[in-house]
Amino acid sequence: SRPKVFVARQIPAEGLERILAACDADVWPDRLPPSPDALREKVRDCDGLVSLLTDKVDAALLAAAPRLKVVSNFAVGFNNVDVPACTARGIAVGNTPGVLTDATADIAVTLLLAAARRLGESAADAKAGRWLTWEPLGWLGRDLGGQTLGIVGMGRIGFATAKRLHHGWGMKVLYTARAPKPDADRELGARQVDLDTLLAESDFVSVHADLNPTTKGLFNEARFAAMKPTAVFVNTSRGPLVDQVALADALRKGVIFAAGLDVTDPEPLPYDHELFQLPNCVIAPHIASATVATRDAMARLCVDNLLAGLSGKRLPNCVNPDVYK
Ligand code: GLV
Ligand code: GLV
Repeated sequence: SRPKVFVARQIPAEGLERILAACDADVWPDRLPPSPDALREKVRDCDGLVSLLTDKVDAALLAAAPRLKVVSNFAVGFNNVDVPACTARGIAVGNTPGVLTDATADIAVTLLLAAARRLGESAADAKAGRWLTWEPLGWLGRDLGGQTLGIVGMGRIGFATAKRLHHGWGMKVLYTARAPKPDADRELGARQVDLDTLLAESDFVSVHADLNPTTKGLFNEARFAAMKPTAVFVNTSRGPLVDQVALADALRKGVIFAAGLDVTDPEPLPYDHELFQLPNCVIAPHIASATVATRDAMARLCVDNLLAGLSGKRLPNCVNPDVYK
């Protein structure tokens, strides 16, 4: 009989069609995510789950889904999934790396430029009737050329971001990473440093680390204080890496120059949150992978993982290979 699958949201059609062709699938129809209770009810007798970063896949959910063999997360990040709990139950977990690297690096650069050149503030001023004339001293931002870029987490997306800014603007590149990155050193003249050095020397700090217990709250008051007062801070990874009270303080007091965020904590960030009131903070609603081609490619990888897992094959992109030991 056909495997039973819950798909926690509408995903691009070509992915959905392959699921519907191979599985007995239930697709959550709403724009908003299922509640934890609804999700638990839906996966009760499922063999496979397509989850999103807004769906918490924790031990309680797994306990309610004894037949589950595969969790295919429609994202490269998987902090919403309790991976050790999945491994303990023999459940393979898949993600969608690689295909969203360029789109995400593009948004990192977009936010970096927008924050450095005060685009959010100046565009809002223009629209609100505050464009009085061409002012020699109006909306002065910061140049990128020849400045130092600090990449926190030199993985695929960090590298793609650094490549754009090094080749396009001649930026010098510093980075932190768990392991040396010889490709970055060779192609970009990049230099691996410790975080303190990176924060002290960088004019632009762009975060590309994953969210885990060691990175949660990494950007706190002391870390912002360690940056240059002219620094621009960009986060396209996960919101909880940043202590937002500390960031708002740093932006308000001029401890740093500006920030560009594609991720916040929580998401959505309430529209009346202080970060939205600060003119030197530009915030996008987690759109880094939001291009037609990228979301199609994510759907392909996500469905490849799902169908492999359902037929007992190794997932092409598995985040817990220990499950096969
Ligand atoms: C998006 O944030 C992703 O992890 O794919
Ligand atoms: C600006 O528009 C200039 O012409 O310098």
